Amino acid sequence: MKLNKCLLAAIVSVCAMSATAEVLPAPQTTGGMPIMEAMSLRQSSRNYDYSQPITKQDISNLCWAAWGLTHDGKHTVGTAMNRQELSIYLITATEVSRFNPESNTLTTIAKGDFRENAGKQEFAQKTPLNIVFVVDTEKQKNVEFQGYTVGAASQNVYLYCASVGLKTVVRGMFDREALPKILKLSENERILLVQTVGH
Ligand SMILES: Cc1cc2nc3c(=O)[nH]c(=O)nc-3n(C[C@H](O)[C@H](O)[C@H](O)COP(=O)(O)O)c2cc1C
Repeated sequence: MKLNKCLLAAIVSVCAMSATAEVLPAPQTTGGMPIMEAMSLRQSSRNYDYSQPITKQDISNLCWAAWGLTHDGKHTVGTAMNRQELSIYLITATEVSRFNPESNTLTTIAKGDFRENAGKQEFAQKTPLNIVFVVDTEKQKNVEFQGYTVGAASQNVYLYCASVGLKTVVRGMFDREALPKILKLSENERILLVQTVGH
């Protein structure tokens, strides 16, 4: 009887996980364009072809570039005193989700199209992906250090995009009132920048 209860609890928790967490393809962490070429191609773009979706592989690679795990529990971006204050959220046409670097999964935060809150600029509301950079201001109180963390993550996204021919632009213009609520952020979490990605 006790075993049956344990089994039931395990099944329920697996079902709950599969309902909310999507496993991404493994990020491609080798190869690619030489870094100096990617740097020379890096640029901001505001003209997008809205009809082209972003593949799950690109989403996985983008999340990893921004805040993936590398070695010894560290990330693609260093943080002052290793406070690891960054979180990455994705806004797509169908949902808002949170990237979990440890499991390489996306947890759904809200279902629906919230792209109009990703930015007032029209392209931000129509492109398939906006990446939201959130810092935990309790983990890292120093705003300059927070800025470094998000800047480095954003630059990694720029370089990945340049290397595979995706377009991108990082933006300080987003809906500062609504977006924290949509992302269900706590009081100490703050959105610093949003980065649009598309073709
Ligand atoms: C912190 C920051 C905030 C920015 N905010 C916006 C924005 O809200 N909207 C936008 O279209 N571009 C934004 N940009 C992009 C800049 O306009 C762009 O980086 C600059 O014009 C240089 O062009 P480049 O990135 O192609 O070199 C931002 C860039 C940074 C670094």
